[in-house]
Amino acid sequence: MTHDHTHRVVSPGRVNLIGEHTDYTGGYVMPFATDLHTALLATPTDDRAVEIHSRALEDTVTASIDDPEATGTWVDYVMGCYAVLQSEGYDPGGFKGELEGTLPLGAGLSSSASLELAMLAFLEDAYELGIDRERLALLGQRVENEFVGMSCGIMDQFAVALGKSDHALRLDTETLEYRPIPLPEDVQIVVFHTGVEHELVDSAYNQRRDTVETALQTLGLDSAKAVPDEQRQTLPARQAERLGYVTRENDRVVEACNALEAGDIDRFGDILVAAHRDIAEHYEASCDELDFFVETAIEEGAYGARLTGAGWGGSAIAVVDEERASSFAESVFERYTEQFPDRNPSYHLVTAADGVRVENVD
Ligand code: GLA
Repeated sequence: MTHDHTHRVVSPGRVNLIGEHTDYTGGYVMPFATDLHTALLATPTDDRAVEIHSRALEDTVTASIDDPEATGTWVDYVMGCYAVLQSEGYDPGGFKGELEGTLPLGAGLSSSASLELAMLAFLEDAYELGIDRERLALLGQRVENEFVGMSCGIMDQFAVALGKSDHALRLDTETLEYRPIPLPEDVQIVVFHTGVEHELVDSAYNQRRDTVETALQTLGLDSAKAVPDEQRQTLPARQAERLGYVTRENDRVVEACNALEAGDIDRFGDILVAAHRDIAEHYEASCDELDFFVETAIEEGAYGARLTGAGWGGSAIAVVDEERASSFAESVFERYTEQFPDRNPSYHLVTAADGVRVENVD
């Protein structure tokens, strides 16, 4: 089903280099937008309805844009954009569209944020809403928080909205101040999807968030950056452990960023590995498959490796010499499939791309 459309929106996915589970307590993150992307081909219409087809899911949905309600399906990321925009006093009209692209769905690479930002950027352009990219990111987060029921932070939507090619973004999620950090040219980021899609990710995620927020409330703090050990030790053991991870992770983002800027890839890689082991042990957000990937990647000569995104499955990254990237990925893939014959893993050699962009086709 191909139509001529007035708009083509290219919306990236995101890979996070470091700073995991820090973005809902005002911490630091260092994600980038990927060349793997969602493409939305769309045309505004006069009726108050949406008709959207997903090629990947082979599904077509029609819905009214008046009083959008969540259905628990992928269309929530579309209709949630209307709900949030309407709650802010905007009234974009309907459209017909199709979704395609290269970003794998549900692989921990922010396919949902990518879809939200594709939608928001399209509606913004087509209906001249006059909303800047930073605000679109915040609205995308609200789609998750208020419509979908996922209490995510701002990292994914921010990276998808404001990414810069060949750079990662070092973002302070407390102030939304950010700075692009150039990625080294001779290094390749390999993304490895474990093939594990943990059904309970959202509930485990919301639970972690709850624990850390409760801990901060008890201590009367706004952010998990720089929480002194003595203060943390006054908390119940579980809260102290979770918060300890988040505080150390914030420190690691700063250190990892310094290492990158100093061109010290060995150090950068070591910090990634330390981050993975810490999140596995003290935040319990890893799984056997992710741990196996990380240890195998190190054995196969990666500078560093770690899970990326929420965890409990999804994807991991490895940082490797560019010229060895393909053979590295093949070796790890082979060893992984031997270890986990029932999984269906995949890998991608990704590059850092610009944030969401809208092309007017006619
Ligand atoms: C998910 C969330 C993000 C962030 C990561 C963990 O991707 O959507 O906001 O919290 O998990 O770092």
